[in-house]
Amino acid sequence: MTVEAALQYLESQHNALIERLRDFIRIPSVSAQKSHAEDMHCCADFLMKTLTDMGLQPRKMPTGGWDVIYAEWLEAGPEAPTILIYGHYDVQPPEPLEPWTRQPFDAEIDEGRIWGRGSADDKGQIWTHIAALEAYFRTAGRLPVNIKILIEGEEEIGSDNLPGFVQQHAEMLKADAVLISDTSQFAPGMPAITYGLRGLCYLEVRVQGAKMDLHSGGYGGAVPNPIHALAEMLAALHDADNRVTVPGFYDDVTPLQDWEREAWSKLPFDEAEYIKMLGIQKLQGEQGFSTLERLWARPTLEINGIFGGYAGPGAKTVLPCWAGAKISCRLVPNQKSADISKKLENHLRALAPETVSMTVEHMAGGEPSAFPTDHPWIKAGERAISKGFGREPVYTRLGGSIPIVQLFSETLGTPVVLLGYCHPDCGAHGPDEFFGIDEFTAGARSNVFMLDEAAHIPSV
Ligand code: BES
Ligand code: MN
Ligand code: MN
Repeated sequence: MTVEAALQYLESQHNALIERLRDFIRIPSVSAQKSHAEDMHCCADFLMKTLTDMGLQPRKMPTGGWDVIYAEWLEAGPEAPTILIYGHYDVQPPEPLEPWTRQPFDAEIDEGRIWGRGSADDKGQIWTHIAALEAYFRTAGRLPVNIKILIEGEEEIGSDNLPGFVQQHAEMLKADAVLISDTSQFAPGMPAITYGLRGLCYLEVRVQGAKMDLHSGGYGGAVPNPIHALAEMLAALHDADNRVTVPGFYDDVTPLQDWEREAWSKLPFDEAEYIKMLGIQKLQGEQGFSTLERLWARPTLEINGIFGGYAGPGAKTVLPCWAGAKISCRLVPNQKSADISKKLENHLRALAPETVSMTVEHMAGGEPSAFPTDHPWIKAGERAISKGFGREPVYTRLGGSIPIVQLFSETLGTPVVLLGYCHPDCGAHGPDEFFGIDEFTAGARSNVFMLDEAAHIPSV
C-alpha cells in the first residue's frame, strides 16, 4: 500500500530528514533585516535544491520583495484534486539575544527538540510537508493528488507583495484546497485544526512639539512635551472595561457563536497554569469574555512600542521634541483591516491635543478569516491528524494572523485547512524557539495521510 510505504520511508529516513531540517534552520533568513539579504537568497536556493532533488522543477519567482518559491506536480491528472501547500521560509529577527539559552541559528538538538529561530515558525512545519511529499515520491514514485507548493519569504514582514502575486498568478495557483501548517497544537500532544485566524492592521503614530530638543529646565513648564501628549492619547485608547474606545471599532464584529462558546469552555485550558507560565500577576482583558474568547474571537488593540526622548544610561535633562508609538489591532470576521486602520487614525487625530502635530504611517495589514468546520476538506484534515497523531484534533481559532489566508480563500474560492503541529508555547517570535521531534514525526505522518484522504475527495 502506498501510504504504508510512505510512512515506512519517514521512519527509515528519520535521521536524515532531521539533519536536513537543521541545515534549513541554520540559514538566518531574517526578512526584516537587509543585512540578511544573502541569507534570504541562500534559503531560497536551499528550497530550490530540496524540491529539485525530489524530482520537481521549482521556480524562484520575483514578487517585488523577497522571491517566492513555487513548484507543482500535476501528474495525478485532471480528475484528481489539487492541493496548494503554503508556507514561509523567512523568520523573525532573533533579537534581543540575551534571553536565549541556545544559539538561535545552531539548530541544536536537546530534550527531544530542535532549538532555533524558525524551527517552529515556519521551517519545521514546512518540513513536515516536504517530508511527506518526498516519502511518496521516493516510494510510489508519484503522489495520490496534484500538488502546488508556494513558499514565500515575506510573511513575517506582512506579505506586502504576495496579494499582487496571488492575483497575478490566480490561474497558476488554482486548487481545490489550500493546506497550511503555520499554526500550533492546542496543547502538547493535543493536535488542532484551526478554523479561524485574526486579521491585523498596524500603524505608527508620531507627535511633534518644538522643532528641536530643549533644556528641560530652561523650557519645561511652558513648552508642551510630546511624550506627555502621546501618553495621554494612548491611555485613552481603552476604557475601564478594557474595551477599545475607537468609535465604530466593534461595529462589524461577527459575534461568537453559541456552539463555539460551549466547545471552547470544554477545552482543557488551565488559567492558573497559563498565568504561571507567563510570569504575570493576573490576566486582563475585555469584560464579559473568557481568555480563549478574548484571544480567538475578540478584536484587540495593542501598543507594540513607544519611543522618544532620552532612554540612554544616566540622567539627561531634556524636553524632547517628538514621540512615537507603534500600534496594532487584531481583527476578527467581519472587520476590514483598512476600515479599522482609518478609524484608529481618525480617533488618534481627535485625541491629539493642539500642542502637538501628528503624522501616521499605515503598515502591514491582513484580513481575518474563518472556515466552516464541517467542510469536506476540513473533515479530511481531521481524519489525517487522527491517524497521524493517534488522537482526534480539537477545533480552535487562534489569535495570530497569516495575512494571505483570507485572500487565498477569496481569490481561489477554496477552503484553507490549517493543520498546526508545533507546541503552543514554542517560543515563536521570542527566545528559545523550538520544534519537537515527535511533533515533526506526527506532523509528517499526518501529511502523508492527508494526501491520501484528499485523493478521495471529489474534485470540483
Ligand atoms: N505563524 C504565525 C501566525 C500565527 C501565530 C498563527 C500564532 C496562529 C498563532 C505567522 O508567522 C505570524 O507570525 N504572523 C504575523 C503576521 C504579521 C507579521 C503580519 C503575526 O501574527 O503577527
Ligand atoms: Mn508563521
Ligand atoms: Mn511568525
